[in-house]
Amino acid sequence: MLINMKELLSAAQKSDWAVGSFSVSNMEMVLGIIKAAEETNSPIILQIAQVRLKQSPLELIGPLMIAAAKNANVPVAVHFDHGLTLEIIKLALDIGFTSVMFDGSHLPLEENITKTLLTVELAKKYGASVEAEIGCVGGSEDGSDDIAINCTSPEDAVRFVDATNVDALAIAIGNAHGNYKETPHLRFDILTKVRDSVSVPLVLHGGTGILPEEFIKCRKNGIKKINIATATFDSVCNSVSDAFKSGGINGYYDIQTAEVDGAYNNALKHIKIFDCSNKADLFR
Ligand code: 13P
Repeated sequence: MLINMKELLSAAQKSDWAVGSFSVSNMEMVLGIIKAAEETNSPIILQIAQVRLKQSPLELIGPLMIAAAKNANVPVAVHFDHGLTLEIIKLALDIGFTSVMFDGSHLPLEENITKTLLTVELAKKYGASVEAEIGCVGGSEDGSDDIAINCTSPEDAVRFVDATNVDALAIAIGNAHGNYKETPHLRFDILTKVRDSVSVPLVLHGGTGILPEEFIKCRKNGIKKINIATATFDSVCNSVSDAFKSGGINGYYDIQTAEVDGAYNNALKHIKIFDCSNKADLFR
């Protein structure tokens, strides 16, 4: 069942759970993640970031993600992650994505507001949700850059949300994309200040490597969407590599099965930490 992201996040805001937003780059990942969501009766978000389109063209993977969401027996929002231009965001909306992110986090606040507003106006025509980001999450989505973390200012969050009316706000609280060099410890002092200052659901990027107890503290303090990418890609690689080592690969289709298993195992683990199980019933 394809659903708007805003609907999922508003339901999560009424309680202490959060929705897992899993990055995908092929059909096997989509299948593994949806299998984990269906088995646990959990709503879920499938997402792909603009930087991934080199390997997985949006015109091909987008319709696949939408079809998988429609076929699923749990609510699935389909989100375009880290959109950098209005043109590509429009393409995602034309394909049927129910949520888009404009990432202007690298821009000065006022320019980020102006450009986010263009996305908000566009998405409104499609009835889609909009996520934006202020402050700077560290690293980069495809590992090509080592962007420094710049924690979100609660005052900027108020100005940004008032001016743009976005549906979800990604914040920087010590989180970074990719594998962390050291175990991260998030700035819960900043998270609670932002949570107390704005009423929108908050988003945590850079989910890979965050400790389970910190995820739990996040979801109890206003984080309602948690992005996981690298952990899925690593889990898929490891699953295929283990299957080769144990002699379980006797042809291409076994590789596909191992990929599905890798994505499934990683999604299952996170769904449990996010306390998403059985929340699909809220939408029936
Ligand atoms: P990780 O790759 O660190 O899990 O980050 C995912 C993410 O935030 C996608 O936007």
